[in-house]
Amino acid sequence: MTAATVKIRHDEILVGFKPIDDLHKEFQDILDALNDPAEADYGQHLLALHEHLLRHCATEERFMLQENYPHYARHKRAHEQLLESVSDERRQFDAGDIAAVRRYAAGMMEWFAIHAQSEDAELAGFLKGLRA
Ligand SMILES: [Fe+2]
Ligand SMILES: [Fe+2]
Repeated sequence: MTAATVKIRHDEILVGFKPIDDLHKEFQDILDALNDPAEADYGQHLLALHEHLLRHCATEERFMLQENYPHYARHKRAHEQLLESVSDERRQFDAGDIAAVRRYAAGMMEWFAIHAQSEDAELAGFLKGLRA
């Protein structure tokens, strides 16, 4: 694990809204497994990541729709790009390009932290405001 990964893990992906933070912790565990050099089964971990992200994105989108969140379309587009990128990686894995999967996994927390701090943090602030 790199120093950058350690730095990101504790303070940058939590948004202060428990249902979303629970998903973010789960995401971190799954990504850690994918990044663990002792774990050789990239196909299995990529599948777990894909399944998790489908549920993760759908849960956030359900909150947005339930509460008429004004930035639903923008946030959903970011999710669609994310899910497409995971599909691409699974295709690359199936084609035998393990190095591409390794690079993708290594860079993913950086992407995720930016999404968490922007789209997800804004959504969490909106949802918390409704409950205040
Ligand atoms: Fe999220
Ligand atoms: Fe999101």
